[in-house]
Amino acid sequence: MARQTENGHGLGQMPEDAGAIDRVLRERPLIVASNRGPVTCSLEDDGTFRARKGSGGVVTAVSSIAREHQPIWIAAAMTEGDRARAEVAARQGEHLIEFGRPPEFRLRFVVPAPEAYHQYYNVISNPLLWFLQHYLWDTPRSPDITHEIWTAWYDGYVAVNRLFADEIVATCERCETQPIVMLQDYHLYLCGGMVRERNPDAILQHFVHIPWPDPDYWRLLPMAMRRAICEGMLGNDIVGFQTPEHARSFMYTCEAYVDGAEIDYDRSAVRWNGRRIEVRAYPISIDANAVRRIAYSKEARSHDRYLPNHWNEFTILRVDRAEPSKNIVRGFQAFDRFLEAHREFQGRVNFVAITVPSRMDVPEYQDYLDDVSAAVGRINARYANVETGWQPIHLIMGENYPRALAAMKWYDVLLVNAIIDGMNLVAKEGALLNERNGVLILSEGAGAASQLGDNALIIAPADVEGTADAMHQALTMPLADRRRMAEGLRRAVEADDVADWFRQQIADLIRYASADEPDADHADASSPLASPIEPDVAVP
Ligand code: G6P
Repeated sequence: MARQTENGHGLGQMPEDAGAIDRVLRERPLIVASNRGPVTCSLEDDGTFRARKGSGGVVTAVSSIAREHQPIWIAAAMTEGDRARAEVAARQGEHLIEFGRPPEFRLRFVVPAPEAYHQYYNVISNPLLWFLQHYLWDTPRSPDITHEIWTAWYDGYVAVNRLFADEIVATCERCETQPIVMLQDYHLYLCGGMVRERNPDAILQHFVHIPWPDPDYWRLLPMAMRRAICEGMLGNDIVGFQTPEHARSFMYTCEAYVDGAEIDYDRSAVRWNGRRIEVRAYPISIDANAVRRIAYSKEARSHDRYLPNHWNEFTILRVDRAEPSKNIVRGFQAFDRFLEAHREFQGRVNFVAITVPSRMDVPEYQDYLDDVSAAVGRINARYANVETGWQPIHLIMGENYPRALAAMKWYDVLLVNAIIDGMNLVAKEGALLNERNGVLILSEGAGAASQLGDNALIIAPADVEGTADAMHQALTMPLADRRRMAEGLRRAVEADDVADWFRQQIADLIRYASADEPDADHADASSPLASPIEPDVAVP
């Protein structure tokens, strides 16, 4: 029987027998549950439905594994079109809605009442949890946990998590073998516990794509909420984070707030309620081939025709959602300072900011977009040259993934100065695609810094002066250094495919199920994953 592996920093090793992973994946259905699904539907005038691919970190990462493993995807109906499509499916007894021929995605919608969804998504998930997990609250003033927040917690967050759990339990019951369930992100923290109560043998893994703050900061949430979140997470077999630091913070938080939780820091595990939960780090990556394909697609090339209108002798690029954690305004302040301190660059450098408006039903996001626009207006007004027509910042608004990838081929400097970020895939996409030996300026708060930091200029995100210096350093760096760093970045990204992120999680679930540590609590031989892989997994 295979033995549990521990390597001290929370990252497991791939089992040498990759065949075991494939066999488990062939034998067991895979269920992925995430708030945002891989497609959104809209109802056309002629009564047909049109499906558009969803966007965002979770969808992009999980979609790339979907091509190979066709999971059953459980996601919230976010739009009117999704609701209408779910209604048609329910009427026609269509268990799984299939998209594409052959089907690329098989989906079940969870359909909360619009008000419950609003409370779950726009009040609790974003901003309360998102802001908390990115350290964004201006703590002397916010958040106020008012009666409205408590209502949104129970009637929104708890209620929608329950709907997801109901759907997961029902889907598991329809499967012939116990499926592997992979929960995604901060919208679904309570799901693991809710599913475990009703399906004790469920195989459950939860990956958190965003940072996990220290226990002190979690105190901004009332005890009942933070405890419910931790306990919900402890319903899983394995919980995964982007970095070992966030995995450790999770264990500290459980130790602080979950009664009876015993933490084994050496083996990166929590023992609670008679079960053992492993805590792991799985740094996410990109699907390099898919990203390249899109970046050189016909659509991306169509942008190559007009994007150069925005370039200059030197071009600094940033690509983000209009999101406070991305620190866009400070990036502009740093550029302002750079132009002021290095007048010789005025007229010769453009800052191109591709910005995707996001979560516009949340007031904090509307305000932030206003702040972004105001900063651009102020800096452009200060430096624009009417005679030459030069304007320093070019703000390109709107979501267009091929266009963003097309732009990445051309930058001299890519600015990723997030205050804190789970990983930041723009840094990886840029590193892969750039053709000009561009320099990456990278925040030490981005998860990507631990993988790419050796070949990037690392900045502290609040350090406007330091970021301005880094811009100058990047734009004056000798070609040989730029080339060396760009090659290092590209190699690091190429060596780290998103498929490994996924397979590593499955490999750890297999090991978890076949661990032979003498542990009466641990659902060892009875685990549904134990028998199929037992003979094959190498003992490391
Ligand atoms: C980003 C984060 C993901 C998160 C997603 C939600 O992409 O990296 O962790 O799930 O935002 O975005 P949404 O647009 O669905 O609110």
